[in-house]
Amino acid sequence: MIGDRLMKAMNDQIRNELESFYIYHSMAAYFHSISLDGMAHWMRCQAHEEMIHAMKFFDHVIDRGGKVILQDLKQLKTEWSSPAEAFRDAYKHEQFITGKINELSSIAREEKDYTSEPLLAWFLEEQIEEEASAGKIADELEMVGSDKSALLLLDRELATRTFPPGSPFDPVAYKAA
Ligand code: FEO
Repeated sequence: MIGDRLMKAMNDQIRNELESFYIYHSMAAYFHSISLDGMAHWMRCQAHEEMIHAMKFFDHVIDRGGKVILQDLKQLKTEWSSPAEAFRDAYKHEQFITGKINELSSIAREEKDYTSEPLLAWFLEEQIEEEASAGKIADELEMVGSDKSALLLLDRELATRTFPPGSPFDPVAYKAA
């Protein structure tokens, strides 16, 4: 059974992951509003991953005999001054999430909760990729600067990210449903 301290921290992390889901959808809406649909698509795929992250913690708490208590989500930022600023924010957000996964890992060790280690090890690995992908795109957008041709090229590239099959955030999937 999961202890109270780790259960509370995992409930907080469910909120953090759901806020990530929400933040990336807000960024998708921003990218659609400036006709960069490839970047919007990338953000939708990212949002899908965040829902999976939230559900991994959700199920872990339940499977360990704990209780999930969903919390209020923060008010969102809805506008960015440029695509580079949005991806830089995404990168900073992933760094924040990495810090939270590190905190959870410390709590699990202090509480001698070895059962949660495989889950937390998965997240530690995942955060390397999460930071690397958002950081790389932010760097590329900063290199692109005001070059609109390069911006459109990058937008086309980001449009090729694939949704997991059946994602409810994939317009192709939900229009077929
Ligand atoms: Fe769930 Fe992007 O970290």
